[in-house]
Amino acid sequence: MLAPTDIALTHNTEGGPIASLKQLVAVLKKTETSNFLSVAQHIMIDPSTITPYTLWSEDHHTRVCIEHNARFELILICWQPGQKTAIHDHNSEECWMHFVQGEFEEVIYNHKEGQLIHQETKHAAANSVTYMTDFIGVHSLHNVGAERGLSLHLYAKPITSCNIFKPSIGTFLKKEMHYDSHVNVAADAATIVDSPAQDN
Ligand SMILES: [Fe+2]
Repeated sequence: MLAPTDIALTHNTEGGPIASLKQLVAVLKKTETSNFLSVAQHIMIDPSTITPYTLWSEDHHTRVCIEHNARFELILICWQPGQKTAIHDHNSEECWMHFVQGEFEEVIYNHKEGQLIHQETKHAAANSVTYMTDFIGVHSLHNVGAERGLSLHLYAKPITSCNIFKPSIGTFLKKEMHYDSHVNVAADAATIVDSPAQDN
């Protein structure tokens, strides 16, 4: 990780880690996509500052839209213990993941000639970063910890659909992506733009 003084050079911030969602969005808007990995590596957000934006469901992990513009998309995913994604691709876009809270398992597969071949299983704890693109393969994410998990997912460009693996038929099917909630972190106070009723 770069020293705090390097952060200012890299991201033109005031120096120090990226400590809030509001600051993260501002930094991303003035950072070239080629430097997004470095941005993700400098996130150091206290989970308590994200609490006002979280949305929880007992049925599935939830996707909270933090920012969506023509160049990138930033999503907060809220995971109850045990919740996981299907195996999916990323529609030829890049994805950087920063884990804010919890303990996760990422399983990566190669997808060749209709066969899924296990490539790697990685464990991710708070403040770790991982990267995914279709050139690497397809993956699934799983909150394997006993506590609720929070992760930030940065896509460039935004992903409006992806292909998810259906074990019952042994193939991938296209899925349109959706948000469970929209929030506005540019305001000084937490603002929920659109959100269904929470399960708890
Ligand atoms: Fe993914």
